[in-house]
Amino acid sequence: MTDAAYLLVRDDREYLLEPGEEFGTDLGVLDVPEDVEGGDTVETHLGTAFAVRELRGPDLFNHLERTGAPMMPRDVGLVMGHTGASGGDRVLDAGTGTGILAAYLGRAGADVTTYEVDAEFADVARANMATAGVADRVEVRTGDLTEELDALAEGEPFDALTLDTGDAPTVVERADELLVSGGCLAVYSPFVEGTREAVLAAREAGLDGIETLETIQREMEFSERGSRPSTAGVGHTGYLVLARAP
Ligand SMILES: C[S@@+](CC[C@H](N)C(=O)[O-])C[C@H]1O[C@@H](n2cnc3c(N)ncnc32)[C@H](O)[C@@H]1O
Repeated sequence: MTDAAYLLVRDDREYLLEPGEEFGTDLGVLDVPEDVEGGDTVETHLGTAFAVRELRGPDLFNHLERTGAPMMPRDVGLVMGHTGASGGDRVLDAGTGTGILAAYLGRAGADVTTYEVDAEFADVARANMATAGVADRVEVRTGDLTEELDALAEGEPFDALTLDTGDAPTVVERADELLVSGGCLAVYSPFVEGTREAVLAAREAGLDGIETLETIQREMEFSERGSRPSTAGVGHTGYLVLARAP
């Protein structure tokens, strides 16, 4: 991985800072040394100590600059678990958005090519990949993936295809040409309509092992009165369509 930013943490305060950066807080000015490392302690000019932590996946979700709605860690976990994306894999991803999924994939060692149609979002995503320390593994390309399919289908196939866009079904129709045999497709959609279209496109493309999961997670609460799932919210984030290239 390339140089990443660090978290400077004290109680409930967390600041994402680069080595060499100076940052004013209500507890004094933090002057982050160029050679800072995780596990160090940095004091403000008023003598207040902050612990230095290396970034981990959930920190990316909390601190990267947000553009397109970022994928939540639980959905990232399902995508990674069901595609098995890991070191040495080539992953094709769209849309980049904030780049949360792309950054997780890069931190797992995958080489990621990710497309973002909005040029400003793509610029933010490139900066986010640098912050996450994966700029060498995650190539953010500005462009509409659906317009690049002919060129990509002629190139080296990918081990996994991860899609989080409304027009994902258009890409799914070509998944067989984009993936190695046995390569994995994961399509995330917040709505059932887009999910159905992705399933139909996967069938049309002749993909194997097509299955769809709704992702629901319930937070548990432990109080004096007893223990039960939180009554706040239903915990739905979306649907995941999974399939394999024949
Ligand atoms: C929901 S966000 C993706 C979030 C991303 N998975 C993450 O974890 O941060 C969807 C993004 O896809 C982009 N997009 C939509 N259609 C696209 C296409 N055909 N090609 C490339 N990017 C696209 C949008 O501009 C938006 O930024």
